[in-house]
Amino acid sequence: MCGIVGYIGKAQAAPILLDGLAKLEYRGYDSAGISIFDSENIQTVKTKGKIKDLRELTHDGADLAGTVGIGHTRWATHGEPSDANSHPHVNASETIAVVHNGIIENYLELKKRLLAKGYIFQSETDTEVVTLLLDYYFDGDLLKTLSKVMSRIEGSYALGIINKDNPDEIIAVKKDSPLIVGLSEDGNYIASDIPAVLKHTRKIYILEDGEIVKLTRDNVTVYNQDLDVVEKEVTEIQWDVSAAEKGGYQHFMMKEIHEQPKAVRDTIFPRIKEDDVFIHELRMTDEQIKDLKKVFIIACGSAYHAGVTGKYVIEELSRIPVEVDLASEFRYRNPILEDNTLAIIISQSGETADTLAAMREAKRHGVRTLAIVNVVGSSIAREADDVLYTWAGPEIAVATTKGYTSQLSALYLLALHFGKIREKISRSDYLEMIQELKSLPDKIEKMLQDKEKIQYLANQYIGLKDVFFLGRGIDYASALEASLKLKEISYVHSEAYAAGELKHGTISLIEDGTLVVALVTQEQLYGKIVSNIVEVKTRGAFVLAVTNEDNKDIEKNTDYVFYIPKTNKNFTGLMATIPMQLFAYYVAVAKGCDVDQPRNLAKSVTVE
Ligand code: AGP
Ligand code: GLU
Repeated sequence: MCGIVGYIGKAQAAPILLDGLAKLEYRGYDSAGISIFDSENIQTVKTKGKIKDLRELTHDGADLAGTVGIGHTRWATHGEPSDANSHPHVNASETIAVVHNGIIENYLELKKRLLAKGYIFQSETDTEVVTLLLDYYFDGDLLKTLSKVMSRIEGSYALGIINKDNPDEIIAVKKDSPLIVGLSEDGNYIASDIPAVLKHTRKIYILEDGEIVKLTRDNVTVYNQDLDVVEKEVTEIQWDVSAAEKGGYQHFMMKEIHEQPKAVRDTIFPRIKEDDVFIHELRMTDEQIKDLKKVFIIACGSAYHAGVTGKYVIEELSRIPVEVDLASEFRYRNPILEDNTLAIIISQSGETADTLAAMREAKRHGVRTLAIVNVVGSSIAREADDVLYTWAGPEIAVATTKGYTSQLSALYLLALHFGKIREKISRSDYLEMIQELKSLPDKIEKMLQDKEKIQYLANQYIGLKDVFFLGRGIDYASALEASLKLKEISYVHSEAYAAGELKHGTISLIEDGTLVVALVTQEQLYGKIVSNIVEVKTRGAFVLAVTNEDNKDIEKNTDYVFYIPKTNKNFTGLMATIPMQLFAYYVAVAKGCDVDQPRNLAKSVTVE
């Protein structure tokens, strides 16, 4: 959510900042701004608008001389999106400029105190208290001043600061909001995410909570809050800058849909050795796995839907009871957490505020945590007891695709692993499922070759108002994800229902021409869902079925069928999801929606 970039070096800072901010646009934002120290003064340009507006205002940054600066994309939490509320926030004498991601929770109390001291606020943001506190405590040493301010503020923050009295440095700090440092010969960078600096460097410091960093042109020093120097390890980024670019596709989302065979392969294959699942990262002993009495899966949004699928698969294969929880509910509902419980935390970004807080809550109760995370070094990855990375590479589009299917892949591996150790799967079934897992990437590839069929169908539905997605068992979980995908990028209202539940109320909404998408991959439930299909057809629905390739007789009861390759019943969620992603994508494109950055949404929801 929102972004920070800072640069200090030999080159002109403004174009570098604008370029870096553009790389962070995918995170979602409503306004943007930069502050540059031009050798005499701090110059600030900010606007309620997009990076392109900021580019126009500054002639692509050319108007702003200076080789040190900070930039920001804001996703408003306190105060409407407006020029005044945009960051950077500067003190009255224009000697201190601050960019902030996150929320200062005690800002009202601090604001009251600052007002009493005669300070005047220019904005409605929580952030401005940081600028004014820095101004109030400033004693010439920005580092010390910041450390003092940190002990006054509560909440989550990544801060980037420049100061006229310390013109050859940038100071930054992070607590519960992401921030990395990029190190290079030509200068040093701060950013809230790696793509913003990857053009310039692959050498990164990942900051821990409470760490403060001082950047000069040729040096970077990291301190703890007591201002002791902290030795940091350099992380070398392996993926390429092209991984964060569109590579010929019209949208990141389509590119990422096509990257799924690779993402699934990269997640699964390194963890299968000689026909055995081998999860080397998992430090749970066989005894601990055998003793498990309960699994909680905790996540938000699509990651939660992956968790719903995970419940079906883990229960089926390992016979451990699984409860799936929305992180925002789990963290406040006083859950019953007993011994021999495992909490599986799922998050693509590894920074989702609710998920992180829920994980901390589980840990507080002494529960072991296992995170399934995509972003290496993210907060959730760092704090979990065990991490199972999904090797999907950077996901830029707000709507997750490869992130989701690689989460499913990781859950399949875990379920098989637990099932084997707990001796709940026969050797032959186990071997058959391993073979199936290995065939998933090719099967995804095959479906992607048929994407025009989905495009054709989606184009018939541009005027679509409501859609109902139905499924039973694992198909219900896939229906939840299909519905979210359509809603978030095409703004079409839809609902997902366990097919048997429809007649308890929702069927009253079915009328002539209503589109119902039936997901039919569970052979053992085939007869049951066909009955539900007939129920809606009788009431006038247009039914699209997504089903296994040998279920040809479904054509008798439906209007259009998309066939998916057959796989083991536990893994069909991954198959059924691909055409649903494509459907959402093509409807959104046909409607002219902003596919990669849907309205009101942010990629990484780092506020509660
Ligand atoms: C997915 O398309 C959504 N944009 C959203 O629901 C997302 O899955 C959710 O915010 C969780 O994000 P995370 O996986 O980064 O924790
Ligand atoms: N809370 C701050 C504001 O509303 C920062 C928001 C952000 O993270 O962009 O201005």
